[in-house]
Amino acid sequence: MLERYGHGGDLRTAEEAFDIPAQKFVDFSSNMNPFGPPPSVKEVLHHYTETIGQYPDPAVRGLRRKLAEKHDIDENSIVVGNGAAELIDLIVRALQPKLTTLAIPCFDEYGDAIRKTGGAIYEIKLSEHNHFTLHSNFEHLCEAAAAGSLFMLGSPNNPTGQLVDPELIHALLSRGAYVVVDEAFMDFVPDEAKYSLIHEATRNERLFVIRSMTKFYSVPGIRLGYIVGMPRTLSGLKRLQIPWSVNSLAQLIGEAVLDETEYAERTLSWLQDERTWLTSALQALGFEVNPSAANYLLVRIPRNAGLSASMLQLEMGKQGVLIRDASRFPGLDHTYIRIAIKLRTQNEQLLMALSKCLSIRR
Ligand SMILES: Cc1ncc(COP(=O)(O)O)c(C=O)c1O
Repeated sequence: MLERYGHGGDLRTAEEAFDIPAQKFVDFSSNMNPFGPPPSVKEVLHHYTETIGQYPDPAVRGLRRKLAEKHDIDENSIVVGNGAAELIDLIVRALQPKLTTLAIPCFDEYGDAIRKTGGAIYEIKLSEHNHFTLHSNFEHLCEAAAAGSLFMLGSPNNPTGQLVDPELIHALLSRGAYVVVDEAFMDFVPDEAKYSLIHEATRNERLFVIRSMTKFYSVPGIRLGYIVGMPRTLSGLKRLQIPWSVNSLAQLIGEAVLDETEYAERTLSWLQDERTWLTSALQALGFEVNPSAANYLLVRIPRNAGLSASMLQLEMGKQGVLIRDASRFPGLDHTYIRIAIKLRTQNEQLLMALSKCLSIRR
């Protein structure tokens, strides 16, 4: 089981499981930008020995300033963290919700963070019949919105790829609920202004938006994310954060990549084309593909394939191709896998390995 430690992209576990060197895998199980880190990252690394002997800026001033410029918000509305994962944990510890509603399937860390604080979880199961959209559960979600309760929602949601309609968030907030929107993959959405709740989060003390910089800039090794909210509410969260949580390399890389406009444009245009192409190619093999606004696809294995997600993951792994067994997300059964969208030659490799698995079984 490749998700032994809870996530995709675990090359060491794959190496142990398949006896193939970690660097030889083509990894579709974690959702990184396939262009790899932008050129400025190399430049930062080249000069890093000059500053490694100093403590990082405990207030992350340079990066917060650049993020504030990017989003046109006040830098005091931003707290930077050691990956979005740290901020999910921190916001739950800061809010200490008695009751949290999750729309499943969703990212495992929401439930894990809540369980650690002893809070109760109310799960609303999204339906495959309407592509796992939250909007089709609008009434149900609003009914669950007791004053003071918390909602943790992904937009785009992992693993479904579906965006949350901001109207739904407004409806939950108007009923007195707290809402954390995890926008870890929002940079991949070209019309982000239509969907991101960052600006509202700077004005509403019950709304928080979490962003990750690790996926879009393909730097998961450095851990970098940020949370946006009202400065007053964020100060409680900062008190819970360990000092120097964001190391200086992460801060420097974060500042550098925000200038990479050509990289960002190339990524957005690649994704539009490649997502359409890969969706059609998977459908031609008999897979059902959930519509996605992100750089990954939730895919259903053909019914007549005689393969469960874990079996398919195993067969693909033997060929050096890693996919996510999505049945490990609560709310999905053994017919679901999740696949990152990569560059064309890698996607072709994925399709070849998938057809091979299907032909062995049929
Ligand atoms: C939906 C979602 N949120 C947050 C994270 C954590 O991101 P980071 O690498 O910034 O900690 C992930 C990582 O996979 C994710 O899928």
